[in-house]
Amino acid sequence: MQKNTVFVTGGAGFIGSALIRHLIENTDTKVVNIDKLTYAGNLQSLESVAANPRHVFSHTDICDRTALDALFAEHRPRGVLHLAAESHVDRSITGPAAFIETNIVGTYTLLEAARQYWNTLSEQDKPQFRFHHISTDEVFGDLHGTDDLFTETTPYAPSSPYSASKASSDHLVRAWQRTYGLPAVL
Ligand SMILES: NC(=O)c1ccc[n+]([C@@H]2O[C@H](COP(=O)([O-])OP(=O)(O)OC[C@H]3O[C@@H](n4cnc5c(N)ncnc54)[C@H](O)[C@@H]3O)[C@@H](O)[C@H]2O)c1
Repeated sequence: MQKNTVFVTGGAGFIGSALIRHLIENTDTKVVNIDKLTYAGNLQSLESVAANPRHVFSHTDICDRTALDALFAEHRPRGVLHLAAESHVDRSITGPAAFIETNIVGTYTLLEAARQYWNTLSEQDKPQFRFHHISTDEVFGDLHGTDDLFTETTPYAPSSPYSASKASSDHLVRAWQRTYGLPAVL
């Protein structure tokens, strides 16, 4: 395992690109940026770090298991920061299929590729690995009034195709942690 290498999925997106700029500019981390470059991905957001040898861009769909396996074998990361998603509620209402594919099937595919790689790690390295899944407050449903707040114990109550697909991915991550022991953080 390469202790200073992480994967960032969705690194050409709004939050992922800010995360990568932060990691490259403020730490010694090497980032493998895995992004399909949908309409939401924009490599211009990464211009300031594009020439840095610690930023490696891979034009890859997280549903592509063969490509993910090759990336894990080549770079042997200490963790995955999983931000890739279809992320806009309104688009999920007019076209839910891409949300099911990327958010649910893509997260499943990434979890399985990560689990296969994690199983090759030494007993010392295994607990150091992290699968960091980026969720959303939308999985808790609607707030009612300005005094209404979500807490850690709020039940899941997704109410759009977007939030239902993100809730599904959360449940998959929790299941992979509990069932297979994959060290995960939501
Ligand atoms: N933006 C918000 O306000 C917000 C709030 C809460 C949670 N989140 C979550 O944070 C994460 C990042 O959000 P964002 O606003 O940066 O999203 P975004 O839509 O700006 O970026 C998503 C990125 O994922 C990539 N992508 C999409 N499908 C892919 C696939 N199949 N394979 C590989 N890459 C793919 C896109 O090309 C894009 O670069 C998402 O998981 C989202 O659910 C976002």
